Amino acid sequence: MKTLTLNNLNTLPYATEEALNRLRINFNFCGDRFKKILITSSVPGEGKSFISTNLWRMLGESGRNVVLVDADIRKSMMRTRYRMSSNGGDFVGLSHYLAGSASLDDVVYATNLPGAYLLPTAHTVFNPSILLQNGRVEEMLDALAQRFDHVLVDTPPLTNVADGELIASFCDGALLVVHGGGTPRSLVSNSLKLLDRAGCELMGVVLNRVKEDGNPYYQKYTKYGYYYEDNDGSRKK
Ligand SMILES: Nc1ncnc2c1ncn2[C@@H]1O[C@H](COP(=O)(O)OP(=O)(O)O)[C@@H](O)[C@H]1O
Ligand SMILES: [Mg+2]
Repeated sequence: MKTLTLNNLNTLPYATEEALNRLRINFNFCGDRFKKILITSSVPGEGKSFISTNLWRMLGESGRNVVLVDADIRKSMMRTRYRMSSNGGDFVGLSHYLAGSASLDDVVYATNLPGAYLLPTAHTVFNPSILLQNGRVEEMLDALAQRFDHVLVDTPPLTNVADGELIASFCDGALLVVHGGGTPRSLVSNSLKLLDRAGCELMGVVLNRVKEDGNPYYQKYTKYGYYYEDNDGSRKK
């Protein structure tokens, strides 16, 4: 397997690291039936990629085998943000796999992080809708779920383009990232509707970028998004 090195992982402030650790623990409480997990939000900049990358890193550090699929094919920042370098060969990724020019083995990379595997976006594609609709996404996610403990999927925002909703329909659950104090209530409620329509269960809401205790960014995993099923099968908040 080829290896990708992520070069730019900054050390996070203690409070952020702690909040992310709590997110990881709460994530584990959701149980093993959630294997294919969408990480999404309503609009750009709420922290989907930040949360998915850090959750991925931490789950790997805790001994899980986790693959992160960078499915923001239109606008992925991962390659530049982490100054990724490959240990040789062509840098191929999701769009190559979806177009049928690469196999799954060609596009899943080990990384310099323990237990953390990556299926990157190697080239951005302006209009990937056709690629996403050709049946290979579902096949890919199922195959990854067989091989890994968790498959995390970082996506574009739900309200801008249909990509996120489409991918949601193939996932077992979703984490909805919300910019605390930033994202209008109506957009959050619209995102919940879109997830529901896609048949993707809400695992939780990550309230991110909340100003607290003087920390410029602070995120915590809230209970607001948790649902549990009553004996009669109805969903309670
Ligand atoms: N909790 C956080 N702490 C520090 N930086 C954050 C946090 N959440 C987001 N950011 C930063 O904000 C910017 C936008 O976040 P990003 O994850 O790229 O958003 P999205 O993927 O939702 O568009 C990035 O530079 C990211 O590193
Ligand atoms: Mg992103």
